Formats: sequence, structure tokens, C-alpha cells
Amino acid sequence: MRIKFLIIYIIIFGFIVVYMTQCDNARKNIQPLTKSWEKVVPFQEIPLGLASLDAEHCGACHPDHYEEWKYSTHAQAWTDLQFQAELKKESSPFLCINCHIPLQNQQEFIIEGLIDGDIYQPVKRKNRKFDKNLQQEGITCASCHVRNNVIIGPTGTDKAPHKSVKDTLHLSEQLCISCHNANAYVTPTLACTFETGDEWKAGPYYGVKNCIDCHMVPIIREITPGYGERLSHLHYFAGSGIPKLDTLKTHSLQGLGFYPSSTEESYSINDSIIYSLRVKNEFAGHKVPTGDPERFFSIKFELKNENGTILSTKNDRIGERWEWYPLAKKLSDNNLLPNEERTFTFVYKAEKKEKLTLSVLVNKNRMDKETADYNKLEDNYPLFITVFNETYDIEVK
Ligand code: HEC
Ligand code: HEC
Ligand code: HEC
Ligand code: HEC
Ligand code: HEC
Repeated sequence: MRIKFLIIYIIIFGFIVVYMTQCDNARKNIQPLTKSWEKVVPFQEIPLGLASLDAEHCGACHPDHYEEWKYSTHAQAWTDLQFQAELKKESSPFLCINCHIPLQNQQEFIIEGLIDGDIYQPVKRKNRKFDKNLQQEGITCASCHVRNNVIIGPTGTDKAPHKSVKDTLHLSEQLCISCHNANAYVTPTLACTFETGDEWKAGPYYGVKNCIDCHMVPIIREITPGYGERLSHLHYFAGSGIPKLDTLKTHSLQGLGFYPSSTEESYSINDSIIYSLRVKNEFAGHKVPTGDPERFFSIKFELKNENGTILSTKNDRIGERWEWYPLAKKLSDNNLLPNEERTFTFVYKAEKKEKLTLSVLVNKNRMDKETADYNKLEDNYPLFITVFNETYDIEVK
């Protein structure tokens, strides 16, 4: 008898708890998403005349665009090992994915709002139309070319089997800047700051050359075999050129010009051996490096004697420095503005007669070794590429 009562009590108690939490949910202050990067591009139907949104499908008729895009960093924006490592951290909020897989089709959950406006408390609903295959493709053809369920193009041609609508404002540098410019302190220890768009707007290229002119080089070619030549644009989105995997080829642009001073071939004891390397941001329409604050250039001078003993070294750096705890704060930034130049000098006082070699190495780095170790990135994740490498023979007589 008593056990029966106990069970009834438990059931009633259970009902009360469920009822109370439901009331609590209803009472929760759910705030709408407001910031651009909190939102996705709305769900897109497959445009009439096509069978799929997959890049490979577009590639059946646009083979060159597909081959170029496939090796671009955009195609790695989801699968990238560092991105995946960061996403797994509890400190990474949901909004991280909106620039990396921008279409709702690519996202597993639909975010309806934020409890108390807190980015760590999104109200989630399962996305029944989630397309896992499209997710893998990161920033894919459809991310830039499909809106309102049609293909957005530069001419609105009627030669295509799919409806094409001309929208040159959408396919302008504004599209690039929608993702390549963010300056937000999301939480005290999480800052999203890359200001490539602002750097470009403040610099000498604004109104002269834009993101597309430099990163999507124009070329006359057939965009679909058999349809005749027209104006087209390379889709490599060439950038830093630091590959995402050592097995992936990427296309790179070189922002810096290097102007080494000539060294004399022989010196006397007590002479100062002076060598300088002038570096100029000659080709980029924004700072170099730009974007991710972890990027930097390292400039390393090393002087050795005939036995290979290192007599002197000097290390310089172009990049930002940040402190993340207790508050995210930029400590310094000596990135080179467009057309800015800087000279790095190495000086050594010759002490005795000997043959010396000076090596000068400039690397463009994705991040430093500690950050890579912290994210447990393996050896097949390249951290840098070499952009200048010279050795000079010097004799002290
Ligand atoms: C069955 C073949 C076929 C498929 C599949 C296809 N296209 Fe096209 N597309 C064409 C043809 C043909 C043209 C017009 C060619 C020309 O103008 O020379 C075209 C034109 C375009 C244009 C230029 C439109 C303009 O305004 O000038 C864009 C952009 C485009 N396609 C993107 C895509 C994307 C993105 C996909 C995949 C989601 C795709 N296409 C799939 C055949 C195809
Ligand atoms: C939907 C957001 C989005 C849009 C739109 C976008 N990008 Fe990107 N872009 C990214 C992300 C994210 C990455 C980095 C992916 C990674 O490293 O995994 C990237 C990478 C790049 C890189 C390579 C960076 C490197 O390290 O080498 C270049 C160059 C680039 N984008 C240029 C452009 C240009 C030009 C446009 C406009 C035509 C554009 N992007 C539009 C998000 C976007
Ligand atoms: C990051 C955004 C972005 C991605 C990703 C992208 N495109 Fe484009 N695409 C553009 C822009 C911007 C233009 C227009 C350039 C202009 O006219 O100034 C363009 C132009 C085109 C054109 C018109 C002809 C030309 O080359 O100018 C075709 C066709 C096209 N893209 C196909 C594709 C296909 C296929 C994919 C995927 C394999 C793809 N694009 C991925 C931004 C993108
Ligand atoms: C005048 C040509 C030019 C213009 C305009 C330009 N870029 Fe670049 N961009 C470059 C060059 C060159 C590099 C390679 C810099 C280097 O050596 O790393 C580069 C590098 C990049 C990178 C890779 C990050 C890095 O540090 O290497 C991104 C991302 C990028 N650009 C995005 C953009 C966006 C977005 C715009 C428009 C707001 C834009 N670029 C405008 C020439 C240009
Ligand atoms: C406003 C759009 C935007 C948002 C939001 C965003 N990213 Fe990115 N992410 C980018 C762009 C653009 C790049 C390429 C930067 C460059 O190369 O200049 C990038 C590059 C990256 C990279 C590659 C870095 C490298 O060295 O190549 C990682 C990892 C990354 N993002 C992680 C994140 C995480 C984690 C979050 C959430 C805290 C996040 N992103 C939110 C736009 C965004």
C-alpha cells in the first residue's frame, strides 16, 4: 500500500518539475540574433534547371572554376584542422560557423535566438534540411552564387540551363568584406578582429583596385565548354599561400618586395659587417600580414664561421601581438601598410681572420609553434612558407 502511494507521489512530483521547467522556458528572455555574423544565409532551394547545389555538380559544366576553387582556402573553411580543433573547445560559440559554412543548408541546427542574449545559450532546433555533403565544402559555389533560389551572376545570361540573375552589387567586394571584416569583442577573452576591408578602404587602392581585381584575376575564356569565350575570373582566391595540408597545392600572392643591400666580400678586423634588408608592402591592397591576428613574418639573420658555429643571430618580426587573458587585448601591431617599407639591419664586428656565411631567411607564418601545439595540430599542417632565402659569403682578412 505504502509503496503504491510513494509511486503516485513520485509521479505527481515529476509532473510538477516538468511543468515548472516549461514555465521557466516560457519565461526565459529569448533575444533575437542581431549581429551580421550571428546570422546565416537563409535556406536555398536548388535553382530550377539544376540537380544539386554541390560544387562538383556545378563543376560538370564549369570545370575550370571547380578545379580552381577546389584548392582554394575557401574550400577548406570547414574541414581545416585548426578550425575543427577550435570548434571543439567549449569557449567557441555557435556563431563561429557563420562565415565558414554560411548557408543554412550547411548547418545542422537552426538558431532561433539567444537566452538572455548570451552567445553561449543559443536556442537550437534541428535543421531537417541539413546537407552534410554541402557542409564539407565550406565556402562553396552556392555560398556566393545562390540567393533567392536562383544563380546570381555578373550578366544574368539566358544561355544557362539554370536561371541567372544579374547582381553586380552582390558579387562585388561587399561580398568579400561581409566575411573579411569583423571587429568585435564577443566576450572578454574572445575577440574576432580582422579588418582587411577597413584596411583596404583606408588605403591607396580604395576606388582603384578592389578585392576581386587582385584575388580573382580576370581572364577571357569559355566558362562552359562549347559556349564560346567571355569575361571570366580565376577562382583560386590566392592569398598567403601557406597550404592547409602538405598534400594540398595552394596558389599564393606575394605582397612584399625584398631589397637586400649588397655586402662587401671582404672586411678587415674591427670592421663592422653591415647588411640590411629593405622590405616593402608593394603588392597588397591592405596591411601585410592581414586578417587572422596570429599571422606574422619572421626575419632571421644568422652568421656562421667555417666550422658551422653560430657567431651571431638576429630575429625580427612583422605582425600583431595579443594578450588573451584575463582580457583580450592587442598589445602591438607593426603590420606593413600598403606601400610602407621597413629596413632590417644586421651588424657584426669582425674580430679575427676567418671565412663567414650570413644567411637571411624570411618566413610567412600561419601561427607560432606554441599555438599549433596548443591546438594539437600534427606535422602535416604546414605552419609557414619561406618567401626570402639568401646566403652571403664574407671573408675577414
Ligand atoms: C548543366 C550545365 C550547368 C550546370 C550544372 C551549372 N551551370 Fe552555370 N552556366 C551554364 C551555362 C551554359 C552558362 C552560360 C555560359 C556562358 O554564358 O558562356 C552558365 C552560367 C553561369 C554563371 C554566369 C551567369 C551570369 O550572370 O553571367 C554562373 C555564375 C554560374 N553559371 C554558376 C553556376 C553554379 C554556382 C552552379 C552550381 C550550383 C552552376 N552554374 C551549374 C551551365 C551550367
Ligand atoms: C562566407 C564568408 C566569406 C566570403 C563571402 C569570402 N570569404 Fe574569403 N575566406 C573566408 C574564410 C572563412 C577564409 C579562411 C578559411 C580557412 O582558412 O580555413 C577565407 C580565405 C580567403 C583567402 C585566403 C587567405 C589565406 O590565408 O591565404 C582569400 C585570399 C580570400 N578569402 C579572399 C576573398 C575574396 C576576394 C572574397 C570575395 C570575392 C572572399 N574571400 C569572400 C570567408 C569568406
Ligand atoms: C567567395 C565567393 C565565390 C565563390 C566561393 C565562387 N565564386 Fe564564382 N564568382 C564570384 C564573383 C565575385 C564573381 C564575379 C566576378 C566579377 O564579375 O567581377 C564570380 C563569377 C563566376 C562566374 C562567371 C564567369 C566568371 O568567371 O567571372 C562563374 C561561371 C562562376 N563564378 C562559377 C563558380 C563556381 C562553379 C564556383 C564553385 C566551384 C564558384 N563560382 C565559387 C565569387 C565566388
Ligand atoms: C592591390 C591588390 C590587392 C587588393 C586590392 C586586395 N588584396 Fe588581398 N592580398 C593581396 C596580396 C598581394 C596578398 C598577399 C600578401 C602576403 O604576402 O601575404 C593578399 C593577401 C590577402 C589575404 C591573405 C592573408 C595574408 O595575410 O596573406 C586575404 C584574406 C586577403 N588578401 C583578402 C582581401 C580582401 C578581402 C580584399 C578586399 C577588401 C583584398 N584582399 C584586397 C593583394 C590585394
Ligand atoms: C565575420 C566572419 C567570421 C567569423 C564570425 C569567424 N571567422 Fe574564422 N575566419 C574568417 C576569415 C575571413 C578567415 C580568413 C582570415 C584571413 O586569412 O585573413 C578566417 C580564418 C579562420 C581560421 C584559419 C586561420 C588561419 O591561420 O588560416 C580559423 C581556425 C578560424 N577562422 C576559426 C574561427 C573561430 C574559432 C571562430 C569563432 C570564434 C571564427 N573563426 C569566426 C571569418 C570569420
